[in-house]
Amino acid sequence: SYLRKSLVMRPEREALPAVCPHWVLDKGVWSRQWVFVFHVGRKSWKSYDWRNISTIALFAPFNPELLCYAHSKGVRLVLKGDVPIKYMVDPANRTAWITEKVNLAKSQFMDGINLDIEQPVFTESLEYHALTALVKETTEAFHHEIPGSQVTFDVAWSPDCVDLRCYNYTGIAALCDFLFVMSYDEQSQMWTECVAGANSPYNQTLGGYERFINLGIAPSKLVMGVPWYGYDYPCLELSPDNKCFLHKRPFRGAPCSDAAGKQVPYHAIMQQVNTSSSGRLWDNEQKSPYYNYKDKSGSDHQVWYDDPESISLKVSYVKARGLRGVGMWNGDLLDYSSDPIAQQQTAAMWQALIP
Ligand SMILES: *[C@@H]1O[C@H](CO)[C@@H](O)[C@H](O)[C@H]1NC(C)=O
Ligand SMILES: *[C@@H]1O[C@H](CO)[C@@H](O)[C@H](O)[C@H]1NC(C)=O
Ligand SMILES: *[C@@H]1O[C@H](CO)[C@@H](O)[C@H](O)[C@H]1NC(C)=O
Ligand SMILES: *[C@@H]1O[C@H](CO)[C@@H](O)[C@H](O)[C@H]1NC(C)=O
Ligand SMILES: *[C@@H]1O[C@H](CO)[C@@H](O)[C@H](O)[C@H]1NC(C)=O
Repeated sequence: SYLRKSLVMRPEREALPAVCPHWVLDKGVWSRQWVFVFHVGRKSWKSYDWRNISTIALFAPFNPELLCYAHSKGVRLVLKGDVPIKYMVDPANRTAWITEKVNLAKSQFMDGINLDIEQPVFTESLEYHALTALVKETTEAFHHEIPGSQVTFDVAWSPDCVDLRCYNYTGIAALCDFLFVMSYDEQSQMWTECVAGANSPYNQTLGGYERFINLGIAPSKLVMGVPWYGYDYPCLELSPDNKCFLHKRPFRGAPCSDAAGKQVPYHAIMQQVNTSSSGRLWDNEQKSPYYNYKDKSGSDHQVWYDDPESISLKVSYVKARGLRGVGMWNGDLLDYSSDPIAQQQTAAMWQALIP
């Protein structure tokens, strides 16, 4: 078989530190650290900067070639876990779902699961307790059946019921290996002005981590997720001081939302920014780049995004605050072509993740 053994079963692991000085022992497994990558498909994984990747979360069909490559680099490959939480209230249904995922991971020699359950849940509801139980039982099953495996959970940028995700954050953090904090889509609920803003504003992002830590969650249980995409907002009106007023698009109780715009990959932004009407601008309050352009019909748009400058600032905080590492949504949003400008921009985005 072309399938290698699971990463955690590699027999030569005792000899690794001498051969691979940057590997660390994590839960009894020699592996790399720091960068958590979501992979959504296509061939671009071959061009990732693999030097500091710890985990690839497979949000794409299983690919044995990727598995072997990841394991050769000491990188864990984990499943995606998503299920309607209303079905998980029933304990028998939970067990069935978990068993299916553990068996799938085992049969594919994979190293864990990333739970990406972004559904609304009310505090102390049946679903609230079911979600905590799902995390507990998933972690127990994976750790027992696949020693050294990793179970992680994706959370919004702040624990304060963002998008009505009122989860038991301290319980969930304690019951899995770590949380992946999605420090993006931070304009999903605009409560005051309906004005375009940064996807991942510096202050708001850091405030979210301080909230998680104030709840008693250890910084080492938090990985910062940064966006490799931005938002393109059509402006109802663009003021001379670059305020882009938006259509009202209510979301989960808030009057306005980033749903007024559309998500655009970093590679597309890089194609557009130099020919935009404003060129790259920098907002010093949100510490994010943005630009304005006119579409074919002459209407104004404003695009907010992250680039190496805005990402490096956040990554400095990750290091200073002792968070576990950094990751991105997602690894496949860069231009991996042989174009020399694209290659330089892509390398700089990977480099920005390293403090
Ligand atoms: C990234 O990898 C390089 C080269 O292996 C290593 O020297 C460095 O310590 C790593 N950085 C982090 C943050 O893990
Ligand atoms: C159990 O899960 C299935 C889907 O897998 C769903 O159709 C069914 O309604 C669930 N049962 C309960 C009691 O939630
Ligand atoms: C959250 O989960 C933890 C761990 O299971 C539990 O001890 C705690 O009581 C839960 N909190 C609430 C409010 O249910
Ligand atoms: C856009 O401009 C920047 C800064 O002048 C430059 O580094 C980059 O190569 C340009 N991008 C393209 C695609 O021409
Ligand atoms: C960022 O937050 C800090 C502390 O919460 C505050 O002192 C500072 O004024 C804020 N800066 C901006 C630009 O909002």
